[in-house]
Amino acid sequence: MSFSRGNLRQYSPVSPPWSWMKSSSQSSAICSTSAAARLTKTPTVHALGDAGWRLVDSTLEVAFEVGRTTAGEQAADVRVRAVVPEDHEPLSALARIAYTRLIRSRYTADPRLPVERTGQLYAEWLLRGCAGTFADVVAVAEHRGRPVGFTTCKLDPALTRATGVGFAVDGIGAVDPASQGLRLQPAMLHWLAEWQRARGGRFRFGRVLINNYAMQRACLRCGAFITQGYHTYHGWRGGGDGP
Ligand SMILES: CC(C)(COP(=O)(O)OP(=O)(O)OC[C@H]1O[C@@H](n2cnc3c(N)ncnc32)[C@H](O)[C@@H]1OP(=O)(O)O)[C@@H](O)C(=O)NCCC(=O)NCCS
Repeated sequence: MSFSRGNLRQYSPVSPPWSWMKSSSQSSAICSTSAAARLTKTPTVHALGDAGWRLVDSTLEVAFEVGRTTAGEQAADVRVRAVVPEDHEPLSALARIAYTRLIRSRYTADPRLPVERTGQLYAEWLLRGCAGTFADVVAVAEHRGRPVGFTTCKLDPALTRATGVGFAVDGIGAVDPASQGLRLQPAMLHWLAEWQRARGGRFRFGRVLINNYAMQRACLRCGAFITQGYHTYHGWRGGGDGP
């Protein structure tokens, strides 16, 4: 089976949580890989399904250009800043519930992955982001002096080197349900663009579930544009029902 390059993209080399999920696994059942096919490439989509890959999500890719983002209007009791150690506990708890109870991530959608492990994955993703391995910066939104939201971001040195243009990618983000609707997410997305500007960066990419309208609206309000869409697949090795 062959896929034309550009229609299919492997997640594994660039997705730190995926390798963490595999390396931290106590069970040989958790051994899988993932791939993404462009929404519009029907033959690739069919070929992946025929080969046993399981569709786990559909996402839109959003792009932010430095100098073309805005935080919009913010309430007086809101501010965005870089993460500090005191944030770790409340924000890892938020990460754990955001991707298991508030939205359905590709890990939650995979019936082979226990939901507790998925929650642990996102808590770990946030903590390792704070430690500088899964992210280069973590933006934190405060409401009334409390940390209630975060967004992680990683520079992409390989693409930056290859193109001479500064690129970065967003990781995970969430706002506590009690503080949603206050434009905290657009404020964090803009803060990250300014952080990137200070380092000579130009573009940043993110992925948003196709039915996550709140996040899409937050991105568009910040000035993002939609670049393309992907279906994501998981395949299981060794006793799984995938390739
Ligand atoms: C998506 C999310 C980060 C948005 O954060 P936010 O700070 O509330 O963003 P905004 O205040 O800009 O709100 C975004 C849109 O959602 C709407 N919204 C926010 N909270 C809402 C709620 N509880 N019910 C209905 N609509 C809501 C807002 O009105 C806004 O739409 P509008 O621009 O038409 O007014 C937040 O809803 C969240 O954490 N969701 C769960 C986790 C998640 O989706 N993370 C992103 C993964 S890519």
